Amino acid sequence: MTAISGSAAAVTGAASGIGRALALELAARGCDLALADRDEAGLQAVAAEIGKGPRKVSVHRVDVGEPHQIAEFAAAATSAHPALNILINNAGVALLGQFNEIEQAQMEWLININFWGVVHATRAFLPHLSGRPAAHIVNLSSIFGIVAPPGQTAYCAAKFAVRGFSESLRHELAIANSSVRLSVVHPGGVLTNIVRNSRTGAGIADNARRAQSIERFDAMAKTTPAAAAQRIILGIEKNQPRILIGGDARFMDLLQRFRPATYWAVLQRRIEKMANAGK
Ligand SMILES: NC(=O)c1ccc[n+]([C@@H]2O[C@H](COP(=O)([O-])OP(=O)(O)OC[C@H]3O[C@@H](n4cnc5c(N)ncnc54)[C@H](O)[C@@H]3O)[C@@H](O)[C@H]2O)c1
Repeated sequence: MTAISGSAAAVTGAASGIGRALALELAARGCDLALADRDEAGLQAVAAEIGKGPRKVSVHRVDVGEPHQIAEFAAAATSAHPALNILINNAGVALLGQFNEIEQAQMEWLININFWGVVHATRAFLPHLSGRPAAHIVNLSSIFGIVAPPGQTAYCAAKFAVRGFSESLRHELAIANSSVRLSVVHPGGVLTNIVRNSRTGAGIADNARRAQSIERFDAMAKTTPAAAAQRIILGIEKNQPRILIGGDARFMDLLQRFRPATYWAVLQRRIEKMANAGK
């Protein structure tokens, strides 16, 4: 069991949404923080919200799509917090559009952040974490790392990859009797700015599609970032290998097990029903 109070955590994507909520909740529970994001103003705002309490908080402007910036972050974070024992790979982006509407470069942009960012940070922090008596890595996948709806080819590719990478690494760490534990997180809809912050596929000309997808996400995302953060922290404390967040994620996870090849037909009907009920 990893106790939160007295721990020190590195959190990527800490300027907004789930990362911001994790920073606030971890600080409130007595955890020191190394907060990273490419949005420096957002990071400073989160640090100001945490305030000048007893917790040590460092902020780091980092683009997780740049491996050398991640290496510098790991060096700076572990030097500011020598007892750092938790890494939360949370930074992520979204891309609007079907496969034939997104360019290869856009797909690579997303996978570079959502998948390679997780791998590079894990590699950069692991030697330090392995030297701690109890350490924990948390990698953010998604329920779209378990089911794959249309319009999510790049995102699902990255999130399925995060899951595969993380599960294999967890088993390696267990065999090696490592002090490092690893959890993979699969949230359903969490009401954050992820869709508002998304890029639009190069093949999408009209703004109405973007507005519609933001509206649909806002209507369907039921979990608050604070509730998601609390669930992740519980998962760390209990060393849960897989952390599902929200009734929607738990439903889709079960459905995928019962109908591994044909779950989409059921999901589509459910989504249409919810959309009609909302009209
Ligand atoms: N919101 C959801 O419904 C949902 C569902 C499943 C999984 N997730 C995952 O949760 C994580 C957090 O997403 P969120 O919903 O809080 O989104 P968000 O957009 O509110 O926050 C994401 C943060 O990551 C940062 N970020 C993006 N690219 C970065 C980069 N290259 N380098 C550094 N920082 C970068 C952004 O600046 C932002 O502060 C993501 O990995 C996302 O895929 C979210």
